[in-house]
Amino acid sequence: MDILKELFLFSAFLILILHVDINGAISGPTHNKVVVCYIGTWSVYRPSRGKFDIEDLDPSLCTHVIYSFAGLNSTDDTIRALDPWQDLSDDYGKDGYNRLVRLKQEYPHLKVSIAIGGWNEGSTNYSRLAADPARRGRFIVSVLNLLRKHQFDGLDLDWEFPAKRGAKRGGIPQDKANFLLLVKELRAAFNKFNYLLTAAFGAGKDTIDIAYDVAGLSVYLDFIHMMCYDYHGAWDSKTGANAPLRSSDVLNVEYSINYMLKLGADPSKLVMGVPFYGRTFLVGNTALSSVRERKLGESSESTGFQGPFTKEDGFMGYHEICLELKNTSLGYTRYWDSDSQTPFAVSGQKVITYDDPESLTEKIKFAMEKGLAGCMIWSIDTDDFRGDCADDDSNVNGHSNYPLLRTVNKAIEQTLEDIERNKINVIPHGETQDDTNNTAMKNNMNYIFVLTLSVIIKIVYCQLI
Ligand SMILES: *[C@@H]1O[C@H](CO)[C@@H](O)[C@H](O)[C@H]1NC(C)=O
Ligand SMILES: *[C@@H]1O[C@H](CO)[C@@H](O)[C@H](O)[C@H]1NC(C)=O
Ligand SMILES: *[C@@H]1O[C@H](CO)[C@@H](O)[C@H](O)[C@H]1NC(C)=O
Ligand SMILES: *[C@@H]1O[C@H](CO)[C@@H](O)[C@H](O)[C@H]1NC(C)=O
Repeated sequence: MDILKELFLFSAFLILILHVDINGAISGPTHNKVVVCYIGTWSVYRPSRGKFDIEDLDPSLCTHVIYSFAGLNSTDDTIRALDPWQDLSDDYGKDGYNRLVRLKQEYPHLKVSIAIGGWNEGSTNYSRLAADPARRGRFIVSVLNLLRKHQFDGLDLDWEFPAKRGAKRGGIPQDKANFLLLVKELRAAFNKFNYLLTAAFGAGKDTIDIAYDVAGLSVYLDFIHMMCYDYHGAWDSKTGANAPLRSSDVLNVEYSINYMLKLGADPSKLVMGVPFYGRTFLVGNTALSSVRERKLGESSESTGFQGPFTKEDGFMGYHEICLELKNTSLGYTRYWDSDSQTPFAVSGQKVITYDDPESLTEKIKFAMEKGLAGCMIWSIDTDDFRGDCADDDSNVNGHSNYPLLRTVNKAIEQTLEDIERNKINVIPHGETQDDTNNTAMKNNMNYIFVLTLSVIIKIVYCQLI
């Protein structure tokens, strides 16, 4: 009898779990905005606690995940694996593409795309590809083959940047028109298969002006991922915010987004990128000796320092930053820069500008009030994905890992609720049907389902005894 009872309870439990899974309510974020999670897949080579593997992803916190990066073979104009051993299964490879895509079995809400390009791929080969109809055609066929073979949901174009000249770029003015052609032809080929076509855009005004036919691209792309970061870094030879929400010049998130909207980007396709990393600076000794309050804009060396995991001059992941700040023997003080609405940390000659839950919440508020499609993250492998920095104060919703990604989702939900509440207050004859209500209704249905099931279980259980 006891075994029977236990069996029964266990199956009831299973039914509950299955319901949640089929329903999809627990599978992904509960708001109706996109959260696009880029993975820089080379993060698997980082040392010790910095090593990020595909299994470290929490797909319940993302609506879209993007495998970064694939490259271009300009001999035969095909998309190609940049790290075949990591990406593919050939020759006992690590099978990264398939391992990421397979997460969809457990998380049916998840869309998985592959990105092509990135900074290290340069621009010249993409420029030549986009300029030649035959090459574009061969490229598109190869993309279709790759998406089908690995069952990706789409392609993300990360050409950095059309028509940009200078170090490693080498673009031509025609890139702008040719990029639109490439996107248009990809769209035509993708429609049959319902593949997602997205692109990452540089956020600087000069890049937007020279590289993108914004109104045209907005028609053919499903989403535009604005890379709203790298506005300042050690290359300026003075300290500055990596991703200022506002500033007195054009180098800030608000300007980039407003400018894109003004140029005709569809807000429901525009996705605001946020950095899960910061920029590092070494300021001169003069600054060290003075005890005046620290602020951004101090002159610095043209190269910043490295973090222990990412080991790149001038760059530090949030997981590295939060560990350094937590370590009192390193002597960091956190300041808030009210001009840029971002924090920075100082210890002696070292300065780090970065984003944290406070600044991200402000940014999300802005994006939601603008009615944007959602938020993009570069990149989730530098969140505190193991929860190493957590203490009681920094936990979000009772979880210690992914503090930034959880903050993004929470801020989206919170802001949408606030907007909805204000709408009801301001407009007496407000619109009737929307998705927030749908979510609430779905939750209610879930609640009713669970309640009913519990009652049935109780009745049957009593009869068993
Ligand atoms: C590029 O394509 C050519 C022709 O198919 C092939 O021989 C070569 O190995 C490829 N290069 C890379 C780096 O994949
Ligand atoms: C561009 O293509 C050429 C071959 O045509 C190749 O040698 C070069 O490495 C490519 N550039 C980059 C940045 O991959
Ligand atoms: C704090 O920093 C010091 C100096 O770099 C280091 O030796 C120590 O291991 C760090 N402590 C923790 C808990 O990481
Ligand atoms: C929200 O959904 C309820 C049903 O749960 C419906 O009666 C109501 O009209 C909806 N309200 C709005 C504002 O859409």
